[in-house]
Amino acid sequence: MCGIIGITSNKEVTTRIINSLKKLEYRGYDSAGLATLKDGFINEVKCEGRVEALEKNISKTNVQGEIGIGHVRWATHGKPSTINAHPHSSETVSVVHNGIIENSTILKKILEKKGYKFKSQTDTEVIAHLVTDYLKKNNLKNTIIKVLNKLHGSFALGIIFKDYPNLIVGARRGSPLAVGYGPNENYLGSDSYALKSMTNKVSYLNDGEFCLIKENQVEFFDTKGNKANKKILNLSQDNQNYDKGDYKHFMAKEIDEQPTTIKNCVNEYIDKISKQINIYNLPWKTKEISSIVLIGCGTAYHSCLIAKYWFEEHTNLDVTVDIASEFRYRKLKFKNDCLYVFVSQSGETADTYAALDICKKNKMKTCSIVNVVESSIARDSELVLPIHCGPEIGVASTKAFLGQMLVLYMLCLKLSFDMKIINKKNYQEKIKNLLSLSNLCKKTLLTDSKIQKTSRTFIEAKGSMFLGRGYSFPIALEGALKLKELAYVHAEGYPAGEMKHGPLALIEEGMPVVVIAPRDDYYKKTISNMQEVIARGAKVLLITNKSKDEIHSENIWETIEVENLSEDLFPFLTTIPLQKLAYYSAMHKGYDIDKPRNLAKSVTVE
Ligand code: M6R
Repeated sequence: MCGIIGITSNKEVTTRIINSLKKLEYRGYDSAGLATLKDGFINEVKCEGRVEALEKNISKTNVQGEIGIGHVRWATHGKPSTINAHPHSSETVSVVHNGIIENSTILKKILEKKGYKFKSQTDTEVIAHLVTDYLKKNNLKNTIIKVLNKLHGSFALGIIFKDYPNLIVGARRGSPLAVGYGPNENYLGSDSYALKSMTNKVSYLNDGEFCLIKENQVEFFDTKGNKANKKILNLSQDNQNYDKGDYKHFMAKEIDEQPTTIKNCVNEYIDKISKQINIYNLPWKTKEISSIVLIGCGTAYHSCLIAKYWFEEHTNLDVTVDIASEFRYRKLKFKNDCLYVFVSQSGETADTYAALDICKKNKMKTCSIVNVVESSIARDSELVLPIHCGPEIGVASTKAFLGQMLVLYMLCLKLSFDMKIINKKNYQEKIKNLLSLSNLCKKTLLTDSKIQKTSRTFIEAKGSMFLGRGYSFPIALEGALKLKELAYVHAEGYPAGEMKHGPLALIEEGMPVVVIAPRDDYYKKTISNMQEVIARGAKVLLITNKSKDEIHSENIWETIEVENLSEDLFPFLTTIPLQKLAYYSAMHKGYDIDKPRNLAKSVTVE
C-alpha cells in the first residue's frame, strides 16, 4: 500500500506535500514522512502515526524546499515506527516507495559487504543505497535502469538527489503512479486524487516505465531507457463531497447516504420511460459469452458471491467467483467465451489489478465495476461500469458494497434480457422493484436503537457467528467482516446449514449469533438452524423482513425487521443493520472507526 507524492517547483512545497499526504492517508496511516532538498542538503522529517503528527513535527523543524517527496506508510517490512517511516535516505539520495522489494534481504547483504549502513528494517532502504552505489560509476539514467533491473517485486518509487537539485525520478512496476503538470512545477503521485487540488492534467506511467520530472519538463522512458510518449489526460472537475458534515465519522455518513447513492446509481442505469437498463456499450455480442467469472477482494468479493446467485437464477451463464489473490496464481484455463468481471471500490487493489492484467494478457473479455473511474482497474478494462457512490472515505466499505451489488444485479438482468432468458414482463417488474429500493433502504436505516443496544453484547463476548443461507450467506460473511474490521472482535460468517458439520461445537451459553433469514426460499431451513443454535445456548439476533406471519421459534433474543421487497433484493436491506452493528460496537469500544488498526482503504500491495 502506501501513498507517494512528489513536487518540483519554483516555490515552497512543504505545505502542499502535507496536504497531498492527508489525501493519500486512505492508502496507509501508520507512519508518514517527507524529505526536501534545500541548499544542497536533504532534510527529512518522519514520525509514527498520522500526517497530523507529521505536520506538527514540521512546524517545529521548519523544513522547507522547492522540491520534495512525501509518503504515508502501511507497514510491510518492519513495524510501524519513526525509523521505518519513509523517506529512506543515504547522504545523497532520498526514496519513497509503495510496494514490496522481494529480494531486499539479499541486496542488503551485498550492500552491507560494501560498507553501507542500514538504519531501518524496511525493504525500501536498499533502494536508497543501491542508487547511491550505482551513481558512483554511472550517469543518472543508466543508474535508474540498472537499479530497476536489480529489484524484484512490485513498486512505485519517488527519488530525489542531492546532486540533481530540481529533479524527481518516478518509476513503476506493479504499483500505480501518476505524473501531474502545473505552471512552473510538476508532480508525482500514487494517484490523480492526490494531485487534483494542484492540477487537472495528468499522465499515467505504464508498467516498467520511469520518468524524470523537473519543474518545467517531464520525460518518460521504457524499461530499456528509450523515450516513451505520453498522452496528457484532463481530469474531470472535482466537485465531490469529502466532508463529514455533522457526522462524527465518515462511516456513519456513508451508511446514511445509501438511499441517495442507490438512487443515483439507479438513475444512471435505468431509463425510467422505456424501463430498460442502459448498458448499451457492451464491446462484445452477448452470444459470445457463455460463462462469467466474478473477481474481487474483501467486501467486493462478497458482492461477487451474492451476484453468483443472481446470475445462476436469471441467466444460463456458468458462474465462478474468485478471490483475486487466489485467481492470480492459479493454473487457469482461459476461455474466449468467458467474461471476466473485476469488482473494486478503489480500482487500485493490487491483487484485483493483477488478476485483470493476467486476463488482458490472455486477451480475455474484461469488465470492471468500480467507484473510482480514474483508477488503474477502470483504465485498463474493456468495459467500465461505475457504481456512482461518490467518495467512500471510511476504511470499512459500506455504500460501495450496496453499489457493487446493485451494478452486478443490473448487469445480470441486462444480460438475461439480451440473452432472452428473462421475459419482458419479469424484466420490467424487476426494474420497477429497483426503483423502490432507495426508499426501502431509507426506512431500514431507522432500525437504529435496537442495534445500538445489542452491539454491547457483541463486544463483551469472546466471539460471535453470522449465519445465513442462499443470498444471506454472503451477507453473513460481510457482517462478520465488518465486526472484525471495526470492533476487533472475532466473528465468523457461515452457511447456516454447515453449522452441524463442525462449528456448532463453538456455541456456548450466551454466545451472540446473528441469523439472517428474510422470508425467502431458504427461510424455513434457516429458522431450523437457528433453533439448533438457540438450543445450545446462543443469544440470537435475527434479521428478517416485516411480515404478517409469525416467526415460529422461541427464545429469540432480539429481532430486527427490514422492509419488505422482492426476494432477490433482500441482501440490500439485510446488510444495513449489520453495518450499524459493527459501527456501534466499535463506537462503544472507542476505536478509530474510519481508520481501524492495521488496515488501509486501498490495498496496493499483494
Ligand atoms: O477497493 P476494493 O473494493 O478493491 O477493496 C477491496 C477490499 O480491500 C475492501 O473491500 C475491504 O475488504 C474493506 N475494508 C472491507 O470493509
